Amino acid sequence: MEKTLYIKDFSSVEVFIEFLYIHGIHRQARNLCKALGLQLHLTNLKEKYSSKVNLDERTKHQVRSSLKAMAGQEDSSQQSLLNIEDYYQLTAIAQGLQSGSKILEVGTYKGASTLALAIGSEKSSASITCMDLYMGFKNEQMTRVDSPLHNEYLVWQKNVNHYCNRINSIHGSSISGLQRLVSEGVKYDLIFLDSSHALDTFFELALISCLANPNSIIILDDVINYNWVMTTTWAMGLKHFLCFPRFSNKLSIANFKISALPINISYEPNCIFESAMQLDNIFKSFEEDNIKAYTKKHSNSEFTINFCTSI
Ligand SMILES: C[S@@+](CC[C@H](N)C(=O)[O-])C[C@H]1O[C@@H](n2cnc3c(N)ncnc32)[C@H](O)[C@@H]1O
Repeated sequence: MEKTLYIKDFSSVEVFIEFLYIHGIHRQARNLCKALGLQLHLTNLKEKYSSKVNLDERTKHQVRSSLKAMAGQEDSSQQSLLNIEDYYQLTAIAQGLQSGSKILEVGTYKGASTLALAIGSEKSSASITCMDLYMGFKNEQMTRVDSPLHNEYLVWQKNVNHYCNRINSIHGSSISGLQRLVSEGVKYDLIFLDSSHALDTFFELALISCLANPNSIIILDDVINYNWVMTTTWAMGLKHFLCFPRFSNKLSIANFKISALPINISYEPNCIFESAMQLDNIFKSFEEDNIKAYTKKHSNSEFTINFCTSI
């Protein structure tokens, strides 16, 4: 069996793979590198786009124990939705802020990420504006019947109470909350977006782009191999106002700037997910694990990738 994928607008397969990687399409980039024998290229990309921030052991301990102490916890894993390395990453990035900076967090849930950001910004005394609907998460929507007073909001308040002098809360939909901030003309230096992971995310990022200073940092959860909306939102950001993409576990990080990507290609953001789907379908159509691929160049910007089980 042989399958062919036609690629245009890229000068080489290495550039195409880098492009997939930048867009959080890591699984397909990995599969393609393996099939083409380009594992070293993948290692270099991981290194080039990894978010390198360090956190000292004392602060790591502070983050761990704050998460453990979150109110009402029976099982700490249900309180914190990211893994501990991601919370360290949030703390470390917040530690890089200048005194008097502003942080915006969209999607707090019970406050684990708020705590990580608050711990990181202790020195800079950054203010933190937090936004959430507090409608519960997954099965917790069931509690709405019993808790019309938004139990999650009370839990979040209790969890982050120690930092309350630096925290403002916007309790409600992100779209209206962000619109309000845009109309107030406020700018933020660090923005963490971890809310619906659905269509709202498009609009959230578009509004957030009006709330950032040049070089502000944005951190998004779940861009990497997540869903069409997250991929396309991130792609829209990279095309229009984000630069220096980097990755850490589940988090995708970038700076705001009107600047070009490290590689220069014209594309439509919603085509990227299509490339990912085509690659997935090709890899799925081969039952064997041992897929090989080779490329054939047609012009300076067009080539095909041929997939087969033996060459
Ligand atoms: C994945 S959780 C956030 C997890 C949190 N960042 C943490 O690390 O613990 C997503 C949160 O986004 C909130 N959310 C979802 N859609 C929203 C929207 N349109 N506006 C405001 N909040 C929203 C949910 O209520 C939920 O608390």
